[in-house]
Amino acid sequence: MNAVEIEEAVSELALKPFEAEEFPFSFLEAFGNKSTTIKKLRSGTSNKTDVEGAILQRNNIHILTSKEGKVTESLETLRNSPSTQKSKVEFILATDGLDFQAENIITGETVVCEYKDFHNYFGFFLSLANITTVKQIRESAFDIKATSRLNKLFVELLQHNPDWATIERRPDMNHFLARLIFCFFAEDTDIFKDDNLFTNTIQKISDPDASNTHEVISEIFRAMDIKKKDREKENIKVWGKKFPYVNGELFSGSTEVPKFSKIARSYLLHVGSLDWKQINPDIFGSMIQAVADEDERGSLGMHYTSVPNILKVLNPLFLDDLREQLEKAEDNSRKLLNLRNRMAHIRVFDPACGSGNFLVIAYKEMRKIENEINVKRGEINKASEIPLTNFRGIELKGFSAEVARLALIIAEYQCDVLYRGQRLALAEFLPLDAQNWIVKGNALTLNWLSVCPPTGTGVKLQGDDLFSTPLEQAQIDFDNAGGETYICGNPPYIGRKKQTDEQKRELKKIFGNRSKDTLSLDYVSGWFMKAVDYMNLTNSDVAFVSTNSVCQGIQVSVLWSVIFAEKVNISFAYQSFKWSNLASYNAGVTVSIIGLTKKHQKRTLYSINAKEEIEAKEVDNINAYLVPGDNLFISKANKPNDDKFPMQFGNHPYYANELMLDSVEARNLKFEKSINNNFIRPLYGSRECITDRPRYCIWLSDDEKELAYKNDVLKQRIEQVRKARASKTKDKQAQKLIDYPHRFRDQHVAEKELLVIPIVSSENRDYLPVNLKASDAIIHNKAFAMYDAPLWNMALIASRLHCVWIGTVCVRMRTDFSYSNTLGWNTFPLPTLTQKNKEDLTTTAEEILIARERHFPATIADLYDPEKMPEDLRLAHERNDEVLERIYIGRKFKNDTERLEKLFELYTKMTTKELKNE
Ligand SMILES: C[S@@+](CC[C@H](N)C(=O)[O-])C[C@H]1O[C@@H](n2cnc3c(N)ncnc32)[C@H](O)[C@@H]1O
Repeated sequence: MNAVEIEEAVSELALKPFEAEEFPFSFLEAFGNKSTTIKKLRSGTSNKTDVEGAILQRNNIHILTSKEGKVTESLETLRNSPSTQKSKVEFILATDGLDFQAENIITGETVVCEYKDFHNYFGFFLSLANITTVKQIRESAFDIKATSRLNKLFVELLQHNPDWATIERRPDMNHFLARLIFCFFAEDTDIFKDDNLFTNTIQKISDPDASNTHEVISEIFRAMDIKKKDREKENIKVWGKKFPYVNGELFSGSTEVPKFSKIARSYLLHVGSLDWKQINPDIFGSMIQAVADEDERGSLGMHYTSVPNILKVLNPLFLDDLREQLEKAEDNSRKLLNLRNRMAHIRVFDPACGSGNFLVIAYKEMRKIENEINVKRGEINKASEIPLTNFRGIELKGFSAEVARLALIIAEYQCDVLYRGQRLALAEFLPLDAQNWIVKGNALTLNWLSVCPPTGTGVKLQGDDLFSTPLEQAQIDFDNAGGETYICGNPPYIGRKKQTDEQKRELKKIFGNRSKDTLSLDYVSGWFMKAVDYMNLTNSDVAFVSTNSVCQGIQVSVLWSVIFAEKVNISFAYQSFKWSNLASYNAGVTVSIIGLTKKHQKRTLYSINAKEEIEAKEVDNINAYLVPGDNLFISKANKPNDDKFPMQFGNHPYYANELMLDSVEARNLKFEKSINNNFIRPLYGSRECITDRPRYCIWLSDDEKELAYKNDVLKQRIEQVRKARASKTKDKQAQKLIDYPHRFRDQHVAEKELLVIPIVSSENRDYLPVNLKASDAIIHNKAFAMYDAPLWNMALIASRLHCVWIGTVCVRMRTDFSYSNTLGWNTFPLPTLTQKNKEDLTTTAEEILIARERHFPATIADLYDPEKMPEDLRLAHERNDEVLERIYIGRKFKNDTERLEKLFELYTKMTTKELKNE
């Protein structure tokens, strides 16, 4: 269950009549406990309580439903119960159906409320559902609640009005939703004069059977589009006249409203009863856009970009600088004024803005700084000089663009209330401006200069109206002489395999003649390239969140050679980090943040350490791999240019599927008398190597073919291979191999032993899972192999140095490394090794193998699970690292950044030397 679903379940429980005996089970069920778990608790087998009538779920919660008026005493009983301590519960909870009290034993936080309100505290208990982003969710508890309620209403309305669910009418439905959100916000914030004016009007005026709810709402919408002076002649109903004139195109156009069922009406009244003052426009926008989006509805916006992550982009891009200027200005009125003027001319532009969260955060942070200036200058109530229209965006989806505008309007109002007081905020809020500054469209085909024109040119913006979905063209003047523009955002990543043909064409067009290989690029590259082109014409800096794959493997040289050629450099970067958000399915995405500039300013490299703290390091240059060092590109090398042993792909079967066996087939074959057991050999690809569970294969030399044919099973299998190859008439290799159906295409085997290196392996391991196998092992082409290589080569592959090198220069697939011999092994910079170095490394490799052996039959997967890695194995690796790293710098490296810096330095030397020798 995700947080929205839990909120829904908890709210439903709170609405039901209280049943003392059932409550603990229903409560746990609402937090996602399975019926089997509840059954065990109910039967008492897993109930660890020592308090009569209570339910204790180990490590989680101790619940007691008490007699009326005895809730405090019951909580005390739970607190003092030895079982609470012994079973390490996190929460204690007591309720009598009227009062509700709970405590987090670990943090000491408490909840004390009426029973009917306990659902408001669902965030308090989220760890019961194994949700780890509890803090984040608790901060957005209102937004989650509002989203879940609106979602229910939306789904009900679509069901009741199937014609509104069609593609053609979805914009109307979305527009209706935006109007509702505005009304809910307005009625709770005095924008509508009477409290709850909207919800109360619907409740009082529309019939309880919901037959005319749509008409009442429609009349309210109509009123809000008509100036007060014209209302008489437009026959606005008396109750409609209480609503203000809103304008801003939000209520213009059709006022048609979907018909309501009784359930939908009650949902609407329920949503209206929430306190919409608490809305976070940055978070809510991202969540609510999911309600209207079929694809996203499942996760209900849980993958929104968190505020700390947005600030990782905006702070280094320009907010840190503004704050620094503010601090430097101290109380100097002139300097403060200059800073305020500067801010009034700053534009923030997000060309994939979604519901505008980057823009909203940027706006809110700038208002905070402006307020400090005003306070220092004694101008506390001064109107803001930061125009909302300086926060510009492009967004493909109409509803998201609409929500972005709404979110910015709400943010402006909230900032006005915060910094200038409710009275002044209200005085200037309505009517809304009719300007449009968030454009619905495709950022890769639109001209960014028309959306966000360069300073001082007086260009007029062509765009659609503020809230009208049809693209009526409106113009707004944009006078921004001397201003700076900051481009930011989190554009769609989309790897090459998932791009549509249209998207591929868009990329090709943007890069034009500058790159012929755009097919290998992620879609996000288009935003980088367009931003660079924009930078060439304007005073602007850029920072995007991006998949880290644009800084790895083959994409690096394709993208960055073009960018660097435009004299644009990386101003700051966050090296790869896990993009945590509230959507469980999305938790694995690894991203980078990359800032670009044409200025000669300091460069800062950020990283996130094991304690999740941000570390910043100033460096001279950041290269395309996001490593301090010169701008270079690692190119594939066909062979190592030092002592390293050649690494090759395993044996390709080439349609010899019938020669491969699972363990049962292999065992059965071995029992056949006429088969020499040496014909059946263990077969390792990446997975088999990591799980230590080989498949098997029939491995015959040409001489053994005749013998094999004497067995019917073997004969049949070999004949199948012949047929499979023969059927590939257009494949020349397959045709050549028809006469060798008894074997794989490749025939590489070891005399003594071999090293197997998985191609795909999880990036979560601290070391790459190389393994040593006996000479009978056959390596499949889904892994790399080194046959009879000196063992010190294993010490290199198993080192932390090699792991970080591979993680940086090879491609990653989602959260997996994809090893490459030409890009990762042959290029791995290695100082000249002495005989003694090789002997020492042979010893450390042996120690790693011995440590693994001690844990037999644990597999590589077991042993290298970062949470469970045995201490002696970790020590053996640390020893290996120490010996190897001393060869590089005479001591152990401090961290991975230092490792990479050294490796890149060596690579530069290595390649310049090669060039000189050529
Ligand atoms: C990863 S989301 C980021 C949105 C928002 N900043 C957030 O954090 O939720 C990317 C956004 O880009 C939009 N998008 C996708 N392709 C686009 C295109 N070609 N032009 C403009 N926007 C696009 C998507 O609709 C989505 O809202």
